[in-house]
Amino acid sequence: MEKIRIFGNQNLRLKGKVRISGAKNAVLPAITATLLTQEKVRLKNIPLVKDVYTILTLMKELGASYNIKKNSLSIQVKKIQSPQAPYELIQAMRASILVLGPLLARFGKATVALPGGCAIGSRPIDLHIHGLEKLGASISLKHGYITAEAKKLHGNEIEFEKKTVGGTENLIMAACLALGETVLKNCSQEPEVTSLCELLVKMGARIDGLGEETIRIKGVSELGGATHEIIPDRIEAGTFLVASALTQGDIVLTRVRPDHLDTVIEKLRYSGTQIEILNSSSLRAIGSKEIRSQDITTSPYPGFPTDMQAQFIVLMTQASGTSFITETIFDRRFSHINELLRLGANIEVSGDKAIVKGKTLLSGAETRATDLRASASLVLAGLIASGRTIINEIEHLDRGYERLEDKLKSLGAKIERIKT
Ligand code: EPZ
Repeated sequence: MEKIRIFGNQNLRLKGKVRISGAKNAVLPAITATLLTQEKVRLKNIPLVKDVYTILTLMKELGASYNIKKNSLSIQVKKIQSPQAPYELIQAMRASILVLGPLLARFGKATVALPGGCAIGSRPIDLHIHGLEKLGASISLKHGYITAEAKKLHGNEIEFEKKTVGGTENLIMAACLALGETVLKNCSQEPEVTSLCELLVKMGARIDGLGEETIRIKGVSELGGATHEIIPDRIEAGTFLVASALTQGDIVLTRVRPDHLDTVIEKLRYSGTQIEILNSSSLRAIGSKEIRSQDITTSPYPGFPTDMQAQFIVLMTQASGTSFITETIFDRRFSHINELLRLGANIEVSGDKAIVKGKTLLSGAETRATDLRASASLVLAGLIASGRTIINEIEHLDRGYERLEDKLKSLGAKIERIKT
């Protein structure tokens, strides 16, 4: 078992430069999109995180061959072997559901295990299924598996009842090879969705409305290969911005997209962090002595990202005053709070709100990671908690952060990964 051990204190000042990795939530759909063509696709700047290896294991089972050199992946699905996504892989990573749309479009059939719930909520896929049925798929559910079949998908007009990143991505990919035009309304506008569309257009797809709430896709008979660079991970970048804000730090982030971080930057500036946009791919964050409390409500992009909620709660424990953090995207995304209480935070949960009272001095403790972003929030808290913090079950952290402890160590943190 691996753990992370941090010796933190209130006088830590993180300083230096950190290079942000490619976005986990962009590379996963980019990889499943390669099911739509029999030609080779090259993806650059991929993050070497656990979820990438999980999706590649699934892709191999489906018939893909690939190789990885440093942070570049070349992958090809000449022929689909078996269109089955087994339970253990879906359970390991819900995003495996992103094979459903492309498999249906390319192969006409897909059997995918229903993803269960996870630490952050129930995670249904009803909107994916409803959309695919409108494109002509017949879908049945047996023994925990969804079987979707369609001789040939046909275009249609679909309006998502609520914004769903995965649902938007699955439907865009399926529509690329459908007969006729598909109009998707109330689409998610996350940069990762837009980046997927950019890749699909390079592969020959006909997509209008990139980044908008209404996306139009004109189906084509086949897609070709392409080369595509994975966008930087805005959530990893946001995590380092909060690390600087917490430690009165002075950190330059490179290989980042400041334009993907507008709301996070705005909230951090309000709380007192000085953020300078140096150019289109780097920014500097200087933390302030006084941290101002504020209320945050998570919402779909371009609103405040739910994936930054846990990290921001840690910052608000150090702010003077009371902050109301409202989580509107997932129905159970406060599992980090019980662990933060053990470090001495003063937080109360009532429904979809976390009420954070600061400033509270945190003290190190043994803790347990419960999900990816919760783990990141425990690392951040450990940096400023006095004494030793141990974080168990860090496989959650490794799902979405590439060598986080090494990057923080290079900025001056006393942090290491220990094997027990
Ligand atoms: C993506 O998850 C991200 N994952 C999540 O990041 C992110 O938090 C989420 O989008 C934000 O919306 C990847 O991109 C791999 P959704 P996804 O479909 O697609 C409900 C991280 O930490 N819903 O946008 O699974 C759902 O329950 C991860 O990197 C339905 O009700 O999320 C949730 O309440 C965590 N029916 C809301 O919509 C559906 O059919 C948003 O879910 C689909 C979703």
